[in-house]
Amino acid sequence: MVNKVKLNDSNSTRVPAGALQQQLSSIFRGVGTPEDDAKVAAKVLVSASVRGVDTHGVANVVGYSKNVEDGVYTVPQKTEVLSESETTALVSGGNGIGLVSAYRAMEMAIEKAKKQGLGMVSIKDGHHVGMVAYYAMMALEHDMIGMSMTTAAPAVRPALGAKKMMGTNPIGFAAPAGEERDFVLDMATSTVASGKVALARRIGVPIPAGWAVTSEGEAITEPPAGENETWALNPLGNNREQGSHKGYGLSVMVDILCGVLSGGGFSSQLARGENMSWVMAIDIGRFRDIDEFKSMMDDMIRELHATPTLPGEDRVMVAGDPEADATDDRLANGVPVENGQYAAIREQAVELGVEVVI
Ligand SMILES: NC(=O)c1ccc[n+]([C@@H]2O[C@H](COP(=O)([O-])OP(=O)(O)OC[C@H]3O[C@@H](n4cnc5c(N)ncnc54)[C@H](O)[C@@H]3O)[C@@H](O)[C@H]2O)c1
Repeated sequence: MVNKVKLNDSNSTRVPAGALQQQLSSIFRGVGTPEDDAKVAAKVLVSASVRGVDTHGVANVVGYSKNVEDGVYTVPQKTEVLSESETTALVSGGNGIGLVSAYRAMEMAIEKAKKQGLGMVSIKDGHHVGMVAYYAMMALEHDMIGMSMTTAAPAVRPALGAKKMMGTNPIGFAAPAGEERDFVLDMATSTVASGKVALARRIGVPIPAGWAVTSEGEAITEPPAGENETWALNPLGNNREQGSHKGYGLSVMVDILCGVLSGGGFSSQLARGENMSWVMAIDIGRFRDIDEFKSMMDDMIRELHATPTLPGEDRVMVAGDPEADATDDRLANGVPVENGQYAAIREQAVELGVEVVI
């Protein structure tokens, strides 16, 4: 059932990643985003699509650029440091494009980690940051461990609760391997990201029982039409027996690091589309030799991959494997863009009078 909620050749069109980068940059520039920021915003969205995270990929350029046109996002934007130490910073994203403020904050965290071994930046006044692991992954090329989290408007019920109170509050964590593929955990603290319910609705497939419930606790399999109070996503773990209190706890932890620590607000204080975020970079070399670290990562990943599978399963993976597989496929064969969204991206380019390249 889960695998039905994804793009395939009948509901999407394959486009080369380079053309998407060009198209998205020009749309962001078309609404007044400076060139550097436009490139960053495009890069984060294209990366999500290349990695198979279609819910947080290129299609979002349409909504984001309309938000700029409508004045919901401020561009040109400034990431302003509100308070700072050698290892920490609190910044304001200036209510700009969230992808850009989270990117700039992680650049800051990495610079601090280069000097001090650790860098941690909390971001308020922010908007949707998309695929949260992007920012954690920025640490990899510096031989660092990266972490990134964000808190969002309510979509998820607390364990045993009947009303949505927390966002899908995702956690990103990236650690470099040597010869194996890097470990990249990128997970909503709900059973699924809410974008997957919307995707299921658009492509006309049911959702698995366990993703969402009515306020009476009945499992929902017909994807709901939009956000309202009649339903909620389940926290990771789904129900009491399967440990929903743990997903719930992780979600509130994200709220504390992102919303309470920054002062930007916890989930139920946020409007839809707002994201308060938190990023951290850890310089591995301050702990041990980087090659030895990576070699031990390789040993661990190889051992996990070699685990015997349950009957009917092909292989045991580690976090990041499905997205690395998607990357191999999509860089070679093009990135699938959902047909309706492909048309919407082209339409937005035409409306803005920028070059149509896809
Ligand atoms: N900005 C926001 O407000 C927001 C909110 C929620 C989610 N998101 C994003 O939504 C995206 C999707 O989140 P999700 O929770 O639905 O992701 P998911 O369930 O598809 O994947 C979660 C993680 O599990 C790993 N994984 C998948 N199958 C595996 C297997 N068999 N073995 C080992 N690891 C495996 C993946 O590599 C990934 O790291 C993420 O990019 C997340 O950052 C963003």
